[in-house]
Amino acid sequence: MITLGIETSCDETGLALIEDGRLLAETLSTQEEIHNLFGGVVPEIAAREHLKTINRQFQVLLERAECPAQKIDVVAVTRGPGLLGCLLVGMGLAKGIVLGVKAKLIGVNHLQAHVLAVGLEEEIIFPALGLLTSGGHTNTFFLPSPTELQPLGRTLDDSCGEILDKTAKMLNLPYPGGKYIDILAEGREPNEKLFPRPYLDNQNLDFSFSGLKTAVAVYLQKNPHLRLPVLPSDRELDLLKGSKELGQVCSSLLWAVNGALRIKTERALKASKKAKSLILCGGVAKSPFLRQVMADLAAKKGLRFHVPSPFLCADNGAMIAFTGETLAKAGLFHNLNLDAVPRGRPVPWDYVSRF
Ligand code: KG4
Ligand code: ZN
Repeated sequence: MITLGIETSCDETGLALIEDGRLLAETLSTQEEIHNLFGGVVPEIAAREHLKTINRQFQVLLERAECPAQKIDVVAVTRGPGLLGCLLVGMGLAKGIVLGVKAKLIGVNHLQAHVLAVGLEEEIIFPALGLLTSGGHTNTFFLPSPTELQPLGRTLDDSCGEILDKTAKMLNLPYPGGKYIDILAEGREPNEKLFPRPYLDNQNLDFSFSGLKTAVAVYLQKNPHLRLPVLPSDRELDLLKGSKELGQVCSSLLWAVNGALRIKTERALKASKKAKSLILCGGVAKSPFLRQVMADLAAKKGLRFHVPSPFLCADNGAMIAFTGETLAKAGLFHNLNLDAVPRGRPVPWDYVSRF
């Protein structure tokens, strides 16, 4: 079975072809440089950029895989949650291909795709607990099987990636900021008194990072010298690594964010005692610090630890293709009425079963 995956939910246009769990080819075009100017994703610009690049990318993908479009059996497309205008670009291409080559269509939940992405690299041990840490989301899920996704905790406001990106913006570091916070924190001890680990004094499994964002903003207002006068170039970033004070601020922020993620994940594990593995995923899972924190937690709990390679952590087409293939093999599809689901709305379980 050959499955095409299409991802356009935010600022990456990602396409991939897989055959029975094996990646044949992929293309990825990121808009980071464009949104860098604004310090965050501008939805209308993002949708337009997808439209500019997606058809050409599809041609390149077929050439790379040496696979004619007629061989595609299933078209898997991100249906949400995401930016509506962006999702519609991917859906338009998906439905066009389905009509053109008579493939089957499946709409994929972007969050489920992040959690299952590591399945392209190794066999996931189920039941699993998934922790999704990205620019738009912070969630825990219990996964009894590859096709089931039970929400446990979610962020009540900002995502963990957003607090990294907003802090970077306040410091005048490039977008997306998580990577730069990591670089500056490297080798620096955190000051555990600087920022609080947010939203732990409660009994639920949800996250909240807006209080921490305020704490960082207040701290930086009191210490304006930490804000860089201009966006640094790569060479200037190298020089910044020498700043002990800036490094400690970044390290303290990571202590607070990663600590909150660890403690809430530990509580989620207590609530899902059947889990045999812990999956870390999403763009923030590229962070070597967070990877270590979660690997240690899994080891402490005697669980198998799954984390994808960095290229599968951020948004990409391969995770959509893999999730689509997994659902298609279970007989789950959609018809051409498939609709996009914008951010903030739950993705419905509305598959049309073909078995
Ligand atoms: O999964 P993703 O590409 O997009 C969403 O679906 O949101 O995640 C993007 C997030 C951003 O917040 C970015 O700062 C963060 O991932 N990120 C990192 C690293 N690389 C990207 N955070 C920490 N360390 C990194 N190396
Ligand atoms: Zn994502």
